[in-house]
Amino acid sequence: MNPRALPLSSPVFTILSGLIEERLGLFFSPQDSDILAEKISPRALERGFDSLLDYYYYLRYDAGAAEELEQLAEALVVNETYIGRELDQLTALVDVLLPPLLAERGQARIWSAACSTGEEPFTLAGMLNDRGLLPKVELLASDISQRVLAVAKAGKFSGRSLRSLPPASSRWLDYDGATARLKPELLRAVKFRQLNLNERESIQSMGKVDVILCRNVLIYFRDATIKTVAESFASVLNPGGYLLIGASESLLRFGASFRCEEHGGAFFYRKDPA
Ligand SMILES: C[S@@+](CC[C@H](N)C(=O)[O-])C[C@H]1O[C@@H](n2cnc3c(N)ncnc32)[C@H](O)[C@@H]1O
Repeated sequence: MNPRALPLSSPVFTILSGLIEERLGLFFSPQDSDILAEKISPRALERGFDSLLDYYYYLRYDAGAAEELEQLAEALVVNETYIGRELDQLTALVDVLLPPLLAERGQARIWSAACSTGEEPFTLAGMLNDRGLLPKVELLASDISQRVLAVAKAGKFSGRSLRSLPPASSRWLDYDGATARLKPELLRAVKFRQLNLNERESIQSMGKVDVILCRNVLIYFRDATIKTVAESFASVLNPGGYLLIGASESLLRFGASFRCEEHGGAFFYRKDPA
C-alpha cells in the first residue's frame, strides 16, 4: 500500500464507501479498500485530517460537506475517453436514427451525460457538422467533475485523446505540434454544465431531450443506482428517444422503460414511441 495512504479499517471502509455510493453513485467493493484509501488520503490530508474516520464525519455532517464531496469526486472518477470512441454507435445515430427524428421534429436535443473531457460530444459535433445537421441539433454535455469540464471547454487535445482518430477528424481539428485544437464552430456547438447523475432532480433539470449518451460510466455503479439513473433518463427522454450506453454495458436486466434495438451493428435503448 502507498505510504501516503491513511489506514482504512473495515468498519470505516464500510461507512465511507457507503457515503460515496449514496452521494456519487460510485461503488467500491471491499477488495477495493486499498485503492479507495489511496485515492481519498491525499484529499483528507490536504484538508488537515490524519484519520479517515474524522474525514468521514466531516463529509457526512459538516456544513461544507457538499463542496468537499465535489472535490473528493475529482479523486475518485475515471476520466478515460478519446475522440472517435465506439464510433459505430455514433455513426448509426447520425446516419440512421437522427434523420427520421429530424424529419419528424425539425430539431433535436442530444445530451452527453458523462462527457469527461469532451471528446464524445465533440466527436458528435464533428460528425453532425460534416452532414450539415449541426444547426438542427442542440448539443448538451455534462459531467460531475469540474476539472474535466474545464479541459473540455478549452477544446485542446493531445496524447491518448487522439489515439484512435477517425479519418473525418482531420476536418474537426487543427494541429499545433502534438496538440490538436478543435475548430471554433465545433467548440461553440456544445454547452457544458456540471451535473451529478446520482441526483434525480439534476437529471430532471435538463428538460426534455431526444437522445442521451451515457457511455462508460454505468460500469462504476451498482444495479440499484443504474436502475434509478435509467428511470430518470426515461422520464426526460421524449417518446421514441434513444439512450446510448457503452459497448460493455447493458440495461437488459432492468426491462420496462426501454427496448433494445440494433442499428448498424450497435445497440440502442429506445423509449416507447407511444
Ligand atoms: C470513463 S469516462 C466516460 C467518458 C465518455 N462518456 C466516453 O465514453 O468516452 C466516465 C465519466 O463519468 C463521470 N462520472 C462518474 N460518476 C458520475 C456521476 N455520478 N455523475 C456524473 N458523471 C459522473 C466521470 O467524471 C468521468 O468523466
